[in-house]
Amino acid sequence: MAKSSKNYTCSSCGSSYTKWSGRCENCGEWNSIAEEKPLSSGGPKGKTLGGLRGKEIDLTPLSAREAPPKRTSCGMDEFDRVLGGGLVPASAILVGGDPGIGKSTLLLQAAAKFADTGLKVIYISGEEASAQVRMRAQRLGLGNANVQLGAETNLRDILTTLETEKPQLVVIDSIQTMWADNVESAPGSVSQVRAAAHELVNFAKTRGISVVLVGHVTKEGQLAGPRVVEHMVDTVLYFEGERGHQFRLLRAVKNRFGPAHEIGVFEMTGSGLAEVLNPSALFLSERDDPAPGSVVFAGIEGTRPVLVEFQALIAPSPHSQARRTVVGWDGSRLAMILAVLESRCGIPFAGLDVYLNVAGGMKVSEPAADLAVAAALLSAREDAALPKDCVVFGEISLSGSLRSVSQTENRLKEAKKLGFSSAICPENLKISPEKDFQMKQMNDLTSFVGDIFGAG
Ligand code: TYD
Ligand code: MG
Repeated sequence: MAKSSKNYTCSSCGSSYTKWSGRCENCGEWNSIAEEKPLSSGGPKGKTLGGLRGKEIDLTPLSAREAPPKRTSCGMDEFDRVLGGGLVPASAILVGGDPGIGKSTLLLQAAAKFADTGLKVIYISGEEASAQVRMRAQRLGLGNANVQLGAETNLRDILTTLETEKPQLVVIDSIQTMWADNVESAPGSVSQVRAAAHELVNFAKTRGISVVLVGHVTKEGQLAGPRVVEHMVDTVLYFEGERGHQFRLLRAVKNRFGPAHEIGVFEMTGSGLAEVLNPSALFLSERDDPAPGSVVFAGIEGTRPVLVEFQALIAPSPHSQARRTVVGWDGSRLAMILAVLESRCGIPFAGLDVYLNVAGGMKVSEPAADLAVAAALLSAREDAALPKDCVVFGEISLSGSLRSVSQTENRLKEAKKLGFSSAICPENLKISPEKDFQMKQMNDLTSFVGDIFGAG
């Protein structure tokens, strides 16, 4: 007898199970597992797809020439760049972020800008009444923008409206509030979010409408019903920022029409989001005179160089197990750098509390930051400041050697532009030195420690 095969899926991480349980073994979330309807085993046309009664699809040669998509730039450079150089027609974009971070503000501003370029734009809010959205628009100075507003959560009604209105861009704020009446579960549940996103994306693609879905992120940093939406759309953007900091990062984590990892930087002001065209200057703006533990890293975010400051503090630990606290960088990467410093350069950190922070609330994920971190740690430990005009970058391998990193020239150019005059980096014979710029190129961490700190 064939077993009934039920399928249960975790709404938080997407793991599947054969039976229900109260807690997901994979991500540890409680009450997140729900039953999925099994696929029907036989369709109207036969038991298996191998029964072959479909119709033939059109095939085209790979070599066929396709004109590049005609993009529309909204004029906010920071937004256009993250999209890969403007909005592609009939594309689906997901903008995720914490509640209150500024997604609605950003998209209202972008919608108004796109409308200014002549696109027909509809903004559907499932969270706020039209009057509220209108008030916000007036506060943002967008009261006269040619954007049509709708306050609705019923997806069938929304699609019917889009069918007659035929806009070129529609913003859905947010996907968690949408309700598809053909799915029997509450708005915000995984099945609803999945169904609503699927309907919207399909509808938009077949009608040539670009659609932007706003999605709230849960506390674990995922969109509620997240993965299911991410793979349906062409572009996934995250809008991030730290509480207490005014700047916001729009980060492309997936983009079928442009480079991923591209960032756009904005500042939340009293009159909405303002573009930050020179983020390095912003991140370094509060930098004081050179202090021990402070090092400027010449990093790359997407296609753009960005300078950020690493700060380290080292103090004797009152605990039997010393603390390692990291903000804005990877904790296990820090452990690795400490281990390399200890075993390759003979500099112990046992019994010392280590605090590492990226100033300004920025998050750095590049391995190229290794050397900047090592420099910050050593500078804090030796109580010796690096020269004020110096930037640092380079990857450290477990053997203690330094590896050159991509886009060295871009990093140096940015550093020079911001008034720095020297760089400590791995040896790279391919680069041509910048004029009036001093390069200290090194091959391994031991010589770095000896040269810069006279230690090791
Ligand atoms: P919002 O766009 O509503 O966030 P989300 O849609 O991501 O939930 O932004 C809400 C926050 O932004 C709110 O705390 C107030 C702040 N804000 C400003 O500081 N300036 C402004 O001009 C606007 C419109 C909002
Ligand atoms: Mg909102």
